[in-house]
Amino acid sequence: MSLIAPSLLSADFSKLGTEIQAIDKAGADLVHWDVMDGIFVPNLTFGPCVIAANRKQTKLPFDVHLMVEKPDKLIDKTAEAGADMITVHMEAASRVADCVSHIHALKKKAGISLKPHTSVSEIIPFIPEIDLVLVMSVEPGKGGQLFQAQALEKIVALKELIGRKKVQISVDGGINPETAEACRFAGADILVAGSAVFKNKNYAKAIDSLKGKK
Ligand code: DX5
Ligand code: ZN
Repeated sequence: MSLIAPSLLSADFSKLGTEIQAIDKAGADLVHWDVMDGIFVPNLTFGPCVIAANRKQTKLPFDVHLMVEKPDKLIDKTAEAGADMITVHMEAASRVADCVSHIHALKKKAGISLKPHTSVSEIIPFIPEIDLVLVMSVEPGKGGQLFQAQALEKIVALKELIGRKKVQISVDGGINPETAEACRFAGADILVAGSAVFKNKNYAKAIDSLKGKK
């Protein structure tokens, strides 16, 4: 069984607090925040102030995905805002190894994300150091894109590389009930889903179907 992390990118930004309470009630396991800086990706979303303002809406862990060029500059404030897991991109300008130790020094879980064209071999030196690998199954930057099937091979390869170590594999982008099943089968631990949850009128049903429940 994989955990479901609804991505607030597809939520109604005019009522984020209510949306967070609703996904909590509907059975979400984590809350996924897509922080975008307008540089690493063209879009701009929210940052630590908005995350902090919503921390009291739920006890669910906050899984923060930093799609920013200089994640090192945001790590302290993201941790302070109440993030439980902080993921930086392998392709960002900051040194990834420094970001991982910085996140761990703040007693948070550290993740590294790989864009669709970044090879899994790049993660090998970091496996002993990290808690999470976030496999992007779409180009980062917006919701509602089609799942890129090569992500499944990456999940299988990562599973092999990780072996018995405690590193979770998360997959992000284009997750719907069908692609969720394929990702679970490949070995993903966490499924991040924006549109599949928030574009559905019934969040509980949407989350159940991503978990493979009828
Ligand atoms: C994309 C984000 C995703 C996004 C997924 O850059 O990282 O978390 O919200 O959206 P869907 O599930 O609609 O593909
Ligand atoms: Zn994301």
